[in-house]
Amino acid sequence: MFIHTARLTIRNFKDSDIDAFLAYRNDPEVAKYQGWGIPYTREQGLQYISEIKDIESPKAGLWLQVAIELKETGETIGDLGIRIKKEDARQVAIGFTIASTHWRKGYAVEAMTALLEYLFKELNMHRVIADCDVENIASYRTLEKLGFRREAHFVESFFADGVYTSEYYYGLLQSEWSERDQV
Ligand SMILES: CC(C)(COP(=O)(O)OP(=O)(O)OC[C@H]1O[C@@H](n2cnc3c(N)ncnc32)[C@H](O)[C@@H]1OP(=O)(O)O)[C@@H](O)C(=O)NCCC(=O)NCCS
Repeated sequence: MFIHTARLTIRNFKDSDIDAFLAYRNDPEVAKYQGWGIPYTREQGLQYISEIKDIESPKAGLWLQVAIELKETGETIGDLGIRIKKEDARQVAIGFTIASTHWRKGYAVEAMTALLEYLFKELNMHRVIADCDVENIASYRTLEKLGFRREAHFVESFFADGVYTSEYYYGLLQSEWSERDQV
């Protein structure tokens, strides 16, 4: 998988991404609202990269993580997650992570814009969904900037680290994405 934007390349993970991958996965600020626990070990990282690095396109029921590389330096600065619903091949969940040293430079929006183009225009997806902790302002601002609609607010719905947290669910339709193009 290869997608180019002005500043970024979105591509499959490679074994050589391991150090960058571990650095941001083990950053408490980055991991705060995410499903993986820290410390996230080198063994886990190598195993995960070996499982996903040769998957050429998103598959039903499986989270595919693809790397975001900065064109200017070749540095791996984050990843995008994509999972097609098992029960419906035209609905897909997404996620995104950027290393904290690169936050607030527009990289998440730039990478996600390209991913949404790919999902809606090339793969003909009908609907893209995402969810986040209600306290994850950076995440929901990114989703809203991309045009996602908040569809649900689940109160104390997710048990993590001994407490129930609340979640927002977001959705975006192909028709809404296309309308945005015409504005
Ligand atoms: C969410 C995340 C990917 C955003 O990455 P980013 O590259 O900094 O985002 P962008 O620079 O593209 O910013 C997107 C929008 O969110 C806003 N935003 C980003 N971080 C913010 C923060 N901490 N507080 C408030 N707004 C924030 C930006 O201002 C921008 O909106 P604007 O242009 O209208 O101002 C990043 O914070 C991250 O990796 N967080 C940890 C992992 C995570 O929680 N991922 C989401 C899982 S659901």
